[in-house]
Parts: sequence; structure tokens; C-alpha cells
Amino acid sequence: MKELLLTIIFIIAVIAVNPLNSHAFTGEQLFKKEGCILCHIINKKGGTMGPNLSTIGKIRTYSWIRRQIINPKLNFFTPNSFVIFHGKIYKSIMPVMPGYKKISANNLNKLAHYLESLK
Ligand code: HEC
Repeated sequence: MKELLLTIIFIIAVIAVNPLNSHAFTGEQLFKKEGCILCHIINKKGGTMGPNLSTIGKIRTYSWIRRQIINPKLNFFTPNSFVIFHGKIYKSIMPVMPGYKKISANNLNKLAHYLESLK
């Protein structure tokens, strides 16, 4: 009986500190975990394919950032994704941001709050 109780407590403890439990991540951690950092710099760290986001909260609102994460095409008209040249259509090599349609609402809100706070 005591062993069973200890096992249950152990399982609860594991769930509580489980790093895969998405509720445990802060916006800052999600920025790395979701791969945003591969294309964006915050505080001198990150990739350069996308714009530097170190002070993004100065120019963008919370809801604008949220939309950017789920569906960037709604924010940026990207005439560069296809180029028409001499009547032929070419796929452009200009980088575009992928939409994160599968991100959980909770993580999306955290990420948007974090970015909005960078001023
Ligand atoms: C493959 C590279 C890539 C990844 C990964 C990526 N982005 Fe982007 N991001 C871009 C590019 C390129 C732009 C420029 C606008 C566009 O194409 O949508 C951009 C634009 C943005 C902007 C608007 C910047 C501005 O100056 O208005 C925000 C905010 C943003 N990204 C946040 C994120 C977040 C948050 C993630 C992770 C969930 C992410 N990005 C992942 C490439 C990327």
C-alpha cells in the first residue's frame, strides 16, 4: 500500500516537472523551442533570415504578432514568393516566414506576450 502511494506521488511529481508539458515553457523558451531563433535575432542571438525582433514590441501590437505567427501572409503581402519573368513563373528564393498553424493557443499567447514586451 505504501509503495502504491509512493508510486502515485512519483508519477504526479514527474508530470509536474515534465519538460514536455507545454504549460511549463515561458515565451522566451518557446522562441527557441519553436525554432523562431533560427531566423530571428533577440538580444544578439539568433539567425538573420528574418528581421531582428529585439525591439519588436515598439512597432507591433500583441494581436498583430499573434497573427504573424499563425498566418504571416495576412500581415505581409509577399509579392516575392513568385516571380514572373518573361511570361514564366519562378519560385523566388526570398525567405518567407512559415505559418505556425499547429501551435497551441496557450503557447501562441505566451510567445506573442513575450515579443510584445520587447521594447
Ligand atoms: C524560416 C525562417 C523563419 C522562422 C522559423 C520564423 N520566422 Fe518570423 N519572419 C521570417 C521572415 C522572412 C519575416 C519577414 C516577413 C515575412 O516574410 O512574413 C518574419 C517576420 C516576423 C515578424 C514580423 C517582424 C517585423 O519586423 O514586423 C515576427 C513578429 C516574427 N517573424 C515572429 C516569429 C516567431 C514568433 C517565430 C516562431 C514561432 C518565427 N517568426 C519563425 C522568417 C522566419
